[in-house]
Amino acid sequence: MHTQHQYDVLIIGSGAAGLSLALRLPEQARVAVLSKGPVQEGNTWYAQGGISAVLDQGDSIESHVQDTMDAGAGLCDPEVVRHTVVNGPEAVQWLIDLGVDFTREETGPGKGFHLTREGGHQHRRVIHAADATGKAVQSTLISAVRARDNIDLFEQHIAVDLITADRIGRPHNRCLGAYVLDRDSGRVEVFRSRFVALATGGASKVYLYTSNPDTSTGDGIAMAWRAGCRVANMEFNQFHPTCLYHPQAKSFLITEAVRGEGGKLLLPDGKPFMQRFDTRCELAPRDIVARAIDHEMKRLGIDHVLLDISHKPADFIHEHFPNVQQRCLELGIDITREPIPVVPAAHYTCGGVRTDLRGRSDLDNLYVVGESACTGLHGANRMASNSLLECLVFASAAAADIGARLDAVKMPPELPEWDESKVTDSDEEVVVSHNWDELRRFMWDYVGIVRTGKRLERARRRIATLQHEIEEYYGNFRVTNDLLELRNLVQVAELIIRSAQMRKESRGLHYTLDYPKPDDRQPPRDTVLVPDKAHRTPGHNVAVGKVEQLRVAPGK
Ligand code: FAD
Ligand code: SIN
Repeated sequence: MHTQHQYDVLIIGSGAAGLSLALRLPEQARVAVLSKGPVQEGNTWYAQGGISAVLDQGDSIESHVQDTMDAGAGLCDPEVVRHTVVNGPEAVQWLIDLGVDFTREETGPGKGFHLTREGGHQHRRVIHAADATGKAVQSTLISAVRARDNIDLFEQHIAVDLITADRIGRPHNRCLGAYVLDRDSGRVEVFRSRFVALATGGASKVYLYTSNPDTSTGDGIAMAWRAGCRVANMEFNQFHPTCLYHPQAKSFLITEAVRGEGGKLLLPDGKPFMQRFDTRCELAPRDIVARAIDHEMKRLGIDHVLLDISHKPADFIHEHFPNVQQRCLELGIDITREPIPVVPAAHYTCGGVRTDLRGRSDLDNLYVVGESACTGLHGANRMASNSLLECLVFASAAAADIGARLDAVKMPPELPEWDESKVTDSDEEVVVSHNWDELRRFMWDYVGIVRTGKRLERARRRIATLQHEIEEYYGNFRVTNDLLELRNLVQVAELIIRSAQMRKESRGLHYTLDYPKPDDRQPPRDTVLVPDKAHRTPGHNVAVGKVEQLRVAPGK
């Protein structure tokens, strides 16, 4: 029997959501934070543009609320939007007080800080640290966490599955902890805790081309689903219009702020085209810009378009976009003199685990924060820079709720150990690598920016085969990081396909040629998937998380 880790709060994920939650919890709480790789690796680190909040007297809560709702195409929850926007300035001030070095400006409306503009925003309201906001935020949060005695960081620890009372045959279903693979020792350990928070980020790695780092494999969404939580709006995958197109550039984003500061999208012959698609041109919401680029690429048979900021003074470009300039220069592109080749790529998961205003999920004592959650803020399309804001605001709300319940929830007793008695080391790793590639390619081809019923049906058939193969493999072999991620990706892909098939209209990020318009005959509805039942088998990796049957119900 190994020693079981025991904490008041187990936080799975060390991005903006997980670290903010850890820091906002009362200092008497013992907290564990897990990251499956190095602590900084996750979407937060790569965030460029900034954080949206009402920081200028000429701006207003009403305007930020309205822009968010417009981008969300009728599916935002107005109460959630208002809650997030109202709490935005405090969340940003909290980061400033922690020491985040946002870009300053002597004059201008941002009370000493420069505010940039991005698609969908009617005002300048995006506070940023040049074009590397994520690094500035994440490194400040990491330093603050390391300085706290009540928080232990576990790097290289990937959560396998949640442990629930139901699964181990105990009464009163609730979350009790998680099985966690220590990637260095190869051992699966038990973490038990009064509360668990999933802050595992999004699932954009389900697509072949993405702006996201390797961590974005939807682990939290898949774990929560297997534990019996509802997930919602999984069909709304955001494709960022402008990722660098270059054979050596893996997942490098060209921030939307380049368009916010005057960057123009051009065809290879130098002609602008956005005016043909939307009166807001380059600053239309992302779904519109990404679809316009996709349309032009398919129409002309070209493999990229161009983004040009070279008409701005070189000093201005250097001051605002040093990171983009440097990366492009390394690849032989001087953005002060020539346009940047760009393509759309999967960027953000709008759907996720259904949560309320406090970050609570369907399972007692399980919270979900950040990109893994579906709070109702983004609706059918997330507005630029509302995501880091959501991480901060909901982490704070979840921390307050957990803090208020800390004494009322008991520590779970000893939990069953992970059972490896029926598995061996894998003899065919190729099954994992092959299925990984196949999955991401057909998701890109069949469930991408433009969908059809036929393509979705093809994807559905393939996913069924893959799921079967991977579950079988999972049942027979010892778990590894790659296997766990693949198992989660396949699960999330299946949820995306199912949700896309259920939406018989085009809305926000979900665009299908079969129903090219929104269905205005009835009020817009979320797509909510409900797992039939949680699984009751103890910590044995054959049975834990095997989804037997899914009942799918539309509506809230
Ligand atoms: P992440 O920051 O992705 O962190 C996830 C964490 O979970 C990681 O620590 C990872 O190791 C851990 N993890 C995952 N699975 C497991 C597991 N099974 N076990 C243990 N740990 C696990 N948003 C904005 O608002 N403004 C921007 O300017 C902006 N720019 C962006 C630029 C890029 C290139 C990208 C990719 C995204 C951008 N976004 C931006 C989106 C935003 O960065 C993310 O939505 C946000 O950072 C998500 O934070 P998070 O804490 O939820 O997840
Ligand atoms: C960007 O800088 O373009 C990304 C902003 C975001 O995803 O919110």
